[in-house]
Amino acid sequence: MANQPEEDFKIEFKRSGITATWNRSVENILELAEDAGVKADSSCQSGTCHTCLVRVLAGTFEYADDDVFEPDGEDEILICSAQPTSNMVIDL
Ligand code: FES
Repeated sequence: MANQPEEDFKIEFKRSGITATWNRSVENILELAEDAGVKADSSCQSGTCHTCLVRVLAGTFEYADDDVFEPDGEDEILICSAQPTSNMVIDL
């Protein structure tokens, strides 16, 4: 009885032309992007400043921390604080 899916997700960074595989050892999408060589802006890394905000082109995600100031747009994501819940395509 697994609570969480064990599967890995493919995260496509569309503008960079890079696809990386997310697994649960990666803390957030920003970390995945940086490890894959995708250039991403960030500052607070805690879901407050919105420096890391980018558009989601496909897929779903969640924030692990309740303190995140979530953006208004449904297609906007704070990658410093988000984890994917499906394969994703991100405008980065
Ligand atoms: S780096 Fe500040 S909200 Fe993501």
